[in-house]
Amino acid sequence: MKFKLPEHSTLLDKSFLYGTATASFQIEGDSTSRLPCIWDTFCATAGNIADASNGDQACEHIAKWREDIDLIHSLGVDAYRFSISWPRVIGFDGKLNPQGVDFYIQLLEYLIELGIKPFVTLYHWDLPQHIEDNGGWLNRQTAYLFRDYVDLITQAFGERVHSYATLNEPFCSAYLGYEVGIHAPGLTGQDKGKQAAHHLLLAHGLAMQVLRKNSPKALNGIVLNFTPAYPVSDSQADINAAAYADDYLNHWYAEPVFNGCYPEILNQLPAENRPQIEEGDMQIIAQPLDYVGINYYTRAFYKADDNLPYCAISPKGVELTAMGWEVYPDAFRDLLIDLNKRYTLPPVYITENGAATDDEIIDGSVDDQQRINYIQGHLLAVHQAIEAGVDIQGYFVWSLLDNFEWAEGYVKRFGIVYVDYQTQQRTKKRSAELFTELVTTRINQA
Ligand code: FCB
Repeated sequence: MKFKLPEHSTLLDKSFLYGTATASFQIEGDSTSRLPCIWDTFCATAGNIADASNGDQACEHIAKWREDIDLIHSLGVDAYRFSISWPRVIGFDGKLNPQGVDFYIQLLEYLIELGIKPFVTLYHWDLPQHIEDNGGWLNRQTAYLFRDYVDLITQAFGERVHSYATLNEPFCSAYLGYEVGIHAPGLTGQDKGKQAAHHLLLAHGLAMQVLRKNSPKALNGIVLNFTPAYPVSDSQADINAAAYADDYLNHWYAEPVFNGCYPEILNQLPAENRPQIEEGDMQIIAQPLDYVGINYYTRAFYKADDNLPYCAISPKGVELTAMGWEVYPDAFRDLLIDLNKRYTLPPVYITENGAATDDEIIDGSVDDQQRINYIQGHLLAVHQAIEAGVDIQGYFVWSLLDNFEWAEGYVKRFGIVYVDYQTQQRTKKRSAELFTELVTTRINQA
C-alpha cells in the first residue's frame, strides 16, 4: 500500500509542505526544570486523567531532543510543528529563564541545520500555575502577560522561526478547560468559558501585533480546531440545533478572528454569562493573519432538546478510532470549502490531522492500517478542497510520537512513531514509512 493521490494533485508538488507535530507538555517531561503549569496541577487530582498519569516523564524529549529531531529528519518532512512551554522560558519575575530559552534555541538551530522549517506554537495549553492562581484566563491581565512573554521570546529567537502560531485551539483552552472542566484548570460554568475565550482571543490579537514587529519575516497566525456540526435528521429543529452548536463550539473562535465579532447567538446567552468586552477589543482580535492553521479530527451530530440549545448524539454503526471519534473525511473537505466561503481566509495550513489507533509492536514493527487509511482519506479531502479553490499550503500529521493525550493519558496513541514508555524506545510505524514514501517522491510541478 502507498498513499495515493491523483497524478496532478498539488499535494504531490515539492512546494506543498509536509510536517509532523507535537506539543511541549505532551512530550517534554523533565517537569522539575521548569515552573509548574496548570496541567501538572490538573493531573495531580485523582480522576482527572484516565490512567492517572502526568507529564513528569512523558517522552523524555528534553533529554532525547536530538534523537527526536534526527527521527524527523529521517522521515524526510519539510517542517516540524512544536510548542514552547511558557513555564520553561519565563520565570516568576516575568523575565526570560536562560536555561529554558537555550533549550529551544539549540533545537531551532538543529532543525535549521537539517533544513527542517520550525513552526512554533506559543501556547499549547500549559499556562504557568502561578498565573492561574491569579485567575488564569479569567483575568484580563493574563492576555497582557502572554503578550509580554511573546515579546521576550520572539526577540530571543530572532530570525530562527519559520512560522509562529499564537494559540493552539482556543476552543479547548476555554471550553474544555473553563466551561466543562474536562481539561486543566478544570473549572465549570458558561460565564467562565466565555470570559476565558475572550481573554484568549485578546491575547492572540495582542501577540499578533508583537509578532508583526519582532518577526515580520515569519508566517504569523493562529491554529483553530473545528468539529463540524451535523443535524441527526432533516427536521428544522435538529438543523437549528446543529447550527447553534456550530456557532457555539466552532465559529465562536473563528468569527472574532476573521470578522471582528462574535456569532449572533451571543445575544441569546443570559446577560450574566456574556463576556466583558472592552472598547477596541474586537479590533485587536481581528488582526490580519499570514496564515490560519486548521486542525480537524472528526464531525459531531446534534439534535434539538427541550431544555438546551442542542444535544450531542454519539454516532452509531460508523467507523470509529480508538478515541471513539468517527472517521469521516468528507466532513473535512466540506469544512474547508465552507470556511473559505464564509470568511476571507489567508493561506491555510492543516496543522493537525491524525488518528489514535490500538497499536501493538509485533516482531519489531507496527502495522497501523487504520491510521494509514485515515491519513489516506484525509489527504484526499485536502486535495478535493484545493480543487474546489481553497488555498491550502501544507499538512501536518498529528503526531510525530505517541504522547500524553491530555485527559486520556498515555493510553491513546496518536504517533506515526511508537513510543515504549518503559524504555523510551521509538519505533516507526508503517504509517511513518508510507508518509516518508509520499513526501520523498514529490516532484516539482510547473
Ligand atoms: C488536539 C490537540 C493535540 C492533540 C490532538 C489529538 O485537540 O491540539 O494536542 O491532543 O487533539
